[in-house]
Amino acid sequence: MKECIDLIKSSKKILIFTGAGISTNSGIPDFRSADGLYSFAEEKYKVPYPEAVFDIDFFNKNPLPFFKLSSDLLSKDVKPSITHKFIKRLEELGKLEVVATQNIDMLHEKCGNRKVLACHGSYGEATCCSCNKKYKFSDIKNSLIDGKVPYCSCKGVIKPDITFFGESLPVDFYNFVSNPPVIDLVIVMGTSLEVAPANQIPLMYAGKVPLIIINREKTVYDRYFDYSYLIDCDNFSKLLLDELPIYKTT
Ligand code: OAD
Repeated sequence: MKECIDLIKSSKKILIFTGAGISTNSGIPDFRSADGLYSFAEEKYKVPYPEAVFDIDFFNKNPLPFFKLSSDLLSKDVKPSITHKFIKRLEELGKLEVVATQNIDMLHEKCGNRKVLACHGSYGEATCCSCNKKYKFSDIKNSLIDGKVPYCSCKGVIKPDITFFGESLPVDFYNFVSNPPVIDLVIVMGTSLEVAPANQIPLMYAGKVPLIIINREKTVYDRYFDYSYLIDCDNFSKLLLDELPIYKTT
């Protein structure tokens, strides 16, 4: 672990890639763990298969389960985890090139990070499925919190700009992979790395710069990593927060 800590201390352009595992300690379930969303989605949200809550074809037929799930995600007063704070510290210290997240919970932004690439979009903006009118989170917030389907003035369903299965990722994602920034260290935290193409972001740096993965369990891609720690990401982040200097504003 010491070697890894020294690497983080000496790196200046770190790419962090995060998944749902960094928010489980904030009270948001991940997807594929034994107690993850996909273990209870069918029963709780009355969908024919777990991933249907994020499937665009299913949503176009029946958007309600997604909005019920959104209410569960957004109505709680969720606070950033120790891992979100560690990533924020890296940005304060000028060591973070970007945090690329698959998460839609907006906790990186809530924690104060600015250099965020939301690979699967977020609730920040929304679009009418019929007329493409753009909406802000605040425009549909009440429906989201109440678990109701928000409708446009044209009567179309307003869908948050979250990437569903069957949809393209945001243009920022494709800009990133077609013109990847110079990075000197990659740290992956709390993700099974099972979902493409988002998983290409860390994997495209394999063999070029050191890669670290912090996850509770193994992933099928661990062989590409130089350092792999099977631990709670908050335990790792706590260690690092104790080691890194505290950012001081002058
Ligand atoms: P997964 O549920 O697939 O993986 C989360 C990983 O985090 C698992 O390997 C857990 O073991 C691990 N984990 C959970 N809590 C942890 C903790 N406290 N410390 C360390 N590790 C922990 O979630 P993602 O990889 O984020 O897509 O899933 C990727 C995408 O699949 C999501 O963005 C979502 C989903 O379908 C869309 O919604 C489009």
